[in-house]
Amino acid sequence: MAMERTVGFSVLGAGRIAGKTVLAARHLAGRGVLRLRAVGARDAGRAADFAAEHGFEASFGSYAEMLADQGTELVYVATPNSLHAAHAKACLLAGKHVLCEKPFATTRREAEEVFALARRLGLFCGEAMWTRFQPAWRAIPGIVATGRIGEPRLVEGSFAVPVSGKARLADPALGGGALLDLGVYPLAFALAMFGEDPEHVSGSAVVTPGGVDDQSSFSLRWSDGRFAALSCSMSAAGGARGRLVGTAGSIELPELVRCETLRVVRHPGEVLETLRFPFPCNGYEYEFEAAAKAVLAGLPECAEAPQSATLAALGAMDSLRASWGVRFPADA
Ligand SMILES: NC(=O)c1ccc[n+]([C@@H]2O[C@H](COP(=O)([O-])OP(=O)(O)OC[C@H]3O[C@@H](n4cnc5c(N)ncnc54)[C@H](OP(=O)(O)O)[C@@H]3O)[C@@H](O)[C@H]2O)c1
Repeated sequence: MAMERTVGFSVLGAGRIAGKTVLAARHLAGRGVLRLRAVGARDAGRAADFAAEHGFEASFGSYAEMLADQGTELVYVATPNSLHAAHAKACLLAGKHVLCEKPFATTRREAEEVFALARRLGLFCGEAMWTRFQPAWRAIPGIVATGRIGEPRLVEGSFAVPVSGKARLADPALGGGALLDLGVYPLAFALAMFGEDPEHVSGSAVVTPGGVDDQSSFSLRWSDGRFAALSCSMSAAGGARGRLVGTAGSIELPELVRCETLRVVRHPGEVLETLRFPFPCNGYEYEFEAAAKAVLAGLPECAEAPQSATLAALGAMDSLRASWGVRFPADA
């Protein structure tokens, strides 16, 4: 469906992920959904290079200058985790709608403050938890409703990528560690499948001498006995996997995060169906399009990734980190 008009889309922080996700923004610009308006970076030269490479109209050598730009409506925040809340607030105070990279903040309290400000100002504000917007994840409730896996009882999920050498991930001051960058995906999967109200969250982690979690396993239990067994690692190379297991079979996600395929399996191993959901671009187009639609519709959030889900995930991660002794500046 054609959009009524394009939304002025700008990037705050021209780092690694922004360089990937803007390919999807460009794809949407080609479809008349977004207008690639501006890039704000701490360095004017890098902002200009990024803007030129990806086809943005303007570039600014500071975030403040970019936020003063008239044509900017929706800002995609792609800075380190510990800066998300402050950057999202700066966007809102400049009158801009915000889509902020995952994790939306480093603590639940920070996110609550940002969401409250957005509501007060009447602006859209949401987390770029891109998998929640992907058609494969969104198809799962419909598959469950067919009854083929029986009653869902267990979520399994893991995400392991050897990224511990990255300065941002090794530094507690930047909100580093495996849980907030990687574990947040299996956690979001479990919360999306079983709801935002687990009665118990616990886990065990290996904490680096620098004070961030290198790898961990953690579990969530719901009051009706449903359970999630999850893990993440920033020193192991295992990719992202997930399964929703029911009383008769399971739905397998061979790629939990970049999810284009689902398998419906009847116990003990008969593949009933393989469903494919190929991305038109690289998978980030779904979150950007949903955010643009929410902006045009005057909505405070996207149904695919509601603010309540962000708060539930951060609350669980707060309690896991507290039990591991992993502390961030916002915990003070
Ligand atoms: N959705 C996904 O698939 C995905 C994948 C990876 C990461 N992420 C998320 O995206 C965010 C950015 O991750 P990244 O891997 O792109 O990080 P990155 O390459 O380090 O980029 C972060 C950018 O933030 C800006 N920045 C502002 N203040 C900074 C500071 N004090 N120290 C370092 N950088 C600062 C810098 O941009 P300028 O200097 O240009 O302003 C920097 O390039 C994180 O929240 C991460 O969890 C999401």
